[in-house]
Amino acid sequence: MLFFDSILSGNKDVACAICHHPKNGYTEFLEISIGPNAKGLGSKRKCNVPNDIPFVKRNAQTIINAAFNEINEHNRYDPKLATMFWDKRIKSQETKALEPIKAFEEMRGHGITEIAILQNVIDRLNAIPEYQKLFEQAFGEKDAVTVENLGKAIATFERTIISNTSRFDQYKSGKRNAIPISEKEGMELFKSVGCINCHNGPMFSD
Ligand code: HEC
Ligand code: HEC
Repeated sequence: MLFFDSILSGNKDVACAICHHPKNGYTEFLEISIGPNAKGLGSKRKCNVPNDIPFVKRNAQTIINAAFNEINEHNRYDPKLATMFWDKRIKSQETKALEPIKAFEEMRGHGITEIAILQNVIDRLNAIPEYQKLFEQAFGEKDAVTVENLGKAIATFERTIISNTSRFDQYKSGKRNAIPISEKEGMELFKSVGCINCHNGPMFSD
């Protein structure tokens, strides 16, 4: 619910899902993201006029399998150390989940400071009995709508957006016929021409 709710943005006009929509593979249809003061989804997303909020400097990655960021070739990883974003500047899904809410061009927009926004969002959520109830149920405590639990709730949702049983995954775990010969040839090419130098390990990444 939180991921799809624009209540998390400064002026209630952007939800996480705007830039990470299931219809677009949990990513976006634009080269770089358009956050607050805009309308539309996918390729139709456009800034309102007038607008002085710049585009986000980068393209939004998919959140599919972000739960596995930093997993190593032995399938080991520590969720607390899993790095996020193109430049790996943030560690863990929980910490990451709060960043877009604070960022001016992503969700915060005009009218509220980076320091004030998180508490403001918590106050808004606390004013909605349904959210109060759902947080209490999820965390098994009173007054459960907190900044920390907000991060945990979104991170926990994101950890359900995974794909780990592709035919290739099955092949790697020993099912020799899970991919046909033609695809095996493609895999060999992928190695021999050097794609694998940058796209390696369980995440096909570096
Ligand atoms: C305005 C568009 C926009 C919105 C809204 C937005 N994001 Fe993002 N998201 C991005 C961009 C751009 C990046 C890449 C930023 C970078 O690497 O510096 C990103 C990266 C991410 C990543 C990192 C994935 C990885 O593999 O490293 C996660 C996870 C994520 N966003 C989750 C969220 C959540 C949760 C919300 C809502 C609280 C949200 N995003 C709202 C644009 C957006
Ligand atoms: C020197 C490192 C490097 C090599 C070699 C390389 N790539 Fe990439 N690849 C990247 C980077 C960096 C990106 C992300 C670029 C961006 O989004 O602007 C990328 C992105 C991609 C994507 C898009 C992934 C997505 O989620 O959008 C695909 C598919 C891809 N590469 C396939 C290949 C193939 C196939 C080869 C071999 C023919 C190859 N790459 C070789 C670095 C490399």
